[in-house]
Amino acid sequence: MTVHFIGAGPGAADLLTLRGRDLIAACPVCLYAGSLVPEGILAFCPKDARIVNTAPLSLDEIISELITAQCEGKDVARLHSGDLSIWSAMGEQLRRLRALQIPYSITPGVPAFSAAAAALAAELTLPGLAQSVVLTRMPGRASALPAGEELAAFAATGAVLAIHLSIHQLPKVIDELTPYYGADCPIAIVWRASWPDQRIIRATLGTLDSAVSTELERTAVILVGRTLGSEDFVESRLYAADYDRRYRPLGPTPRFPEGS
Ligand SMILES: C[S@@+](CC[C@H](N)C(=O)[O-])C[C@H]1O[C@@H](n2cnc3c(N)ncnc32)[C@H](O)[C@@H]1O
Repeated sequence: MTVHFIGAGPGAADLLTLRGRDLIAACPVCLYAGSLVPEGILAFCPKDARIVNTAPLSLDEIISELITAQCEGKDVARLHSGDLSIWSAMGEQLRRLRALQIPYSITPGVPAFSAAAAALAAELTLPGLAQSVVLTRMPGRASALPAGEELAAFAATGAVLAIHLSIHQLPKVIDELTPYYGADCPIAIVWRASWPDQRIIRATLGTLDSAVSTELERTAVILVGRTLGSEDFVESRLYAADYDRRYRPLGPTPRFPEGS
C-alpha cells in the first residue's frame, strides 16, 4: 500500500500530468483538498473509489483515513492543488507517514504561478530585466513569516515577485512595494488561473485600484516586476546567430568541437 501525493494543478482538469492521472485512476481511495482541487479531476477516479474531501478535516483525521486505507491494503491518491512543493501541507503529512512507516510517492503538478504567467503570456525572466522569481506571501493569521522574509527584503533585490495567499492584503502589498519598484512598475493579478472564470487585471503599482480585491474571490496570484508586459529587453545570447555553443559549433575553433 502506498500513499501517492499528486499535484493536481491550478484548476483546469487537463493541466494534470499523465502520471498523476494514471495514479488517480489506479487508486481505490482518493483524498483531495476540496477548497482548491477541481472536481473535474475526480472523474479520473475508479467508479467505486472512496473519495474524501479533506477540506473540513484536521491533520489527525486525514492521517486516520490513511491508516484505514493501509489496514485495508488500498493505495491512496492524495491530491493537493498546484504543485506539492509550495503551500501544500504535504510536509507535515509526510513526517507522520515516515513515523508510521507508510510508503509514499510524490508526483509534481503545475503550480498556480505558472498558470498565471501563462494566462498573461509572460516569460517572467527576461534578459537584462529580471533573472529571478520569488514565490512568496504576506504573513497570515495562521502563518507568521520567518524573520528576513518580509516582502521588503525580496523587493530590495528587484526580482519578479509572485505573491500568493495575499490578495486580501493588496493595499499593503502595493504600499510595501512601491518604494522599491516605483509607481510605474507593472503589476498583474490573475484570479483562478486556468479555471473557466479566470480573470486578469494589469496595471502599475501606481494605477491599480487596490479596492478591486475586495470584490473578487480570494484565489489569486499577484505578480509584480519589470518583465511584465515589457517589450524592452535584449534577446538571449543562447539563440544569437554568432553564439558558439555545444549544439551549434561555430567558427574555425569552436569551443565545443563536434563529437567532443
Ligand atoms: C494553499 S496555496 C496552494 C499553492 C499551490 N500548491 C501551487 O503550487 O500553486 C493557495 C494559493 O495559491 C494561489 N492559487 C492557487 N490556485 C490558483 C489559481 N488557479 N489561480 C490563481 N492563484 C491560485 C493563490 O494565491 C492561493 O491563495
